[in-house]
Amino acid sequence: MNSIDPAAPRAPASPSTFADPARPDRDTLDSDATAPVAPVTRVVHPRTILLLALLIALIGVLGYAAYPYVAPPWIDEGPLVQQSTPTELTLVWFTSREAECEVRFTAADGSAQKLTTRGKRHAARLTGLKPSTFTEYSIHEGERELFQGRANTARAAGHPFTFLVFGDSGRGKSDQYTLAARMPTEKPDFLLHTGDLIYPAGERHDYKAKFFKPYAALLATVAFWPSLGNHDVAKESDAADPYREVFELPENGPAGQPPENNYWFDYADARIAVFDSNLDESTTRSVILPWLRSVFSAPHPAGGPLWRFVVMHHPVYSVGKHGDTPRIRDNLVSAFEELHIDVVFSGHDHLHERTVPMVGGRAAKDGERGVVYLVSGAGGAKLYKVLPQDKWPSYYAMVNNETHNYTVIRISGGLLKARTVSLSGSVVDEWEMAQRPIPGTDTTPATTASETGR
Ligand SMILES: [Fe+2]
Repeated sequence: MNSIDPAAPRAPASPSTFADPARPDRDTLDSDATAPVAPVTRVVHPRTILLLALLIALIGVLGYAAYPYVAPPWIDEGPLVQQSTPTELTLVWFTSREAECEVRFTAADGSAQKLTTRGKRHAARLTGLKPSTFTEYSIHEGERELFQGRANTARAAGHPFTFLVFGDSGRGKSDQYTLAARMPTEKPDFLLHTGDLIYPAGERHDYKAKFFKPYAALLATVAFWPSLGNHDVAKESDAADPYREVFELPENGPAGQPPENNYWFDYADARIAVFDSNLDESTTRSVILPWLRSVFSAPHPAGGPLWRFVVMHHPVYSVGKHGDTPRIRDNLVSAFEELHIDVVFSGHDHLHERTVPMVGGRAAKDGERGVVYLVSGAGGAKLYKVLPQDKWPSYYAMVNNETHNYTVIRISGGLLKARTVSLSGSVVDEWEMAQRPIPGTDTTPATTASETGR
């Protein structure tokens, strides 16, 4: 057996053993190093670089544009819950391209249900549902599941409920998104918007970033009830067409007006009328006024209604930049009182304002019913300045223009509790109102049902 003595000196490797015949000898290289070598430089013409860059950009643009048409369809906007009642609700969504979709859900009787829709805009009415219950649903394209969620049906009369009010939101800026992210913590049953959903001009292509994305989690779960702001109809060529394309609203507005621009609905013990305050004074007086009278005189399934709310964009009273809206104030205030409206919600001025109950442009006296006017216009757009406090009329209970906010309304039988919440979660305003009797009607508050089921 051979062994190597590590202490023994090692003989240098023989050049003949390791030399690569293909490689020149180092001595040869060294001797060549003294010879001048001409540098090789390749110049690419700037025009070639520019053409290459343009070609790459063109391929990118074409690929991006073609992607929605060649890739499998996806849900680009939504789903959005609309018009929830105790047993039904509508889902609206938009796919990246024309597609056939199927909504799957389980009805109250336990049966598996399927609804088929086709197009880019999809609307499906889910029926046979359980009241006050989250219904699991999924949306499919072929065998591909595009979305899975749960949407709630409306609470029945006598059940407590909660809704959020906000407006002037659609800027797509961080304040809107931050406020939107806080909203689900309130666990609302529905959302009520006081208008100016989309700045600057209510255009359809802005809905994705300024409406669908910030509120996505809530939109797929609870009903959203919008109203038309001045910015939502700012593009005169198509007026409110994008609004009506996105939303699926009751067509129970006044005759002669575009369907869905004005509507009303019942939720539990409340009736809510939403109207288009962009209309001129003559139309407000001759069309909206009689329509509001008919809405609030129509019978309510639970007798009442116990609570009566009106929503429109322009404020009746305001100490913000826009001030009062005379065409509304001078034509509708007496009707709001005559119809026993509890709260009139509006936006337009970017702040939070709340009056005490009012009658005839002043604070209600003891024994008078009075209407509260609440401006919720701090949903995301830049906040407005207000008049100095010493110039505020005495009927103001609270004005805040220091933070973006929404208002939470909680109704339990005969008691309304309201809380306005800032961007940071602090409470900006808090108040409550006991249900007041409506002369000539049986408006005894229903027994508050337990809050089980959710
Ligand atoms: Fe506005």
